[in-house]
Amino acid sequence: MAWFFKFINSSIGKKFIMALTGLLLSLFLIIHLGNNLLLLVDEDIFNSLVGGLGGLKPLVRVIEVLLAILFMIHIINGIRLTIQNKKSSPQGNKVNSGTETASISSQTMAISGITILAFLIFHLRTIWVKFQEMHASQDHEFFNVVAESNIGFGNIWITIFYIIALILLSMHLKHGFQSAFQTFGLSDSRYKTIINCIAVFFWFVIPGLFITIAIYFGFFFNN
Ligand code: HEM
Repeated sequence: MAWFFKFINSSIGKKFIMALTGLLLSLFLIIHLGNNLLLLVDEDIFNSLVGGLGGLKPLVRVIEVLLAILFMIHIINGIRLTIQNKKSSPQGNKVNSGTETASISSQTMAISGITILAFLIFHLRTIWVKFQEMHASQDHEFFNVVAESNIGFGNIWITIFYIIALILLSMHLKHGFQSAFQTFGLSDSRYKTIINCIAVFFWFVIPGLFITIAIYFGFFFNN
């Protein structure tokens, strides 16, 4: 067991945990985007999918707990890594540009990470809490909550907040994927092209489609 603690406290161990938890969280984003793209397809299909998930509560709860654990590990480890980078960054020493760049990118990651966390807390306290109440009262008008209500895209300020958070999520994923592939030693491998395509899918296509949903409902559907 000692080797395990030694590993997770080492610099490479922290980077490895960041990369692994980040990748697993990104997989959730694919599923989440898939569900939410149904908003653009058909109101009734979206309502029956969410209503159906209400009937799978034990499974959904297990997934939510796993997600919460992944988020916690990613955040705590991210804070530890940022502190470590700060300690090793040069104090007023402009010559050591390598470490300086690392410090700037870790600061950018910290700022985008904090914004994503704020978005997530807001998102769960509004949409997720409302959906739980609706499951309990057998109200299945889920589409209206997201598309039209004042806790969803019926509120222009919430739409703008979502778009800003999603742009920062995109930046966070772009740098995150670059670092993760470096950590796993894949950035210079012969699979470089496919690796780059996977990265573009996660940092551009996924946030881009989430933003499309926000723009469509916030600026077109409600006008
Ligand atoms: C246009 C953007 C988004 C929309 C329309 C959206 C919509 C929703 C909806 C409708 C739910 C409730 C699902 C349910 O309880 O069955 C939900 C839950 C959740 N969302 Fe989002 N979401 C968006 C973006 C995001 C992003 C970018 C993240 C992560 C950074 C995220 C993380 C979560 C989490 C963790 C939950 C709770 C777990 C779950 O119930 O699936 N969402 N979202």
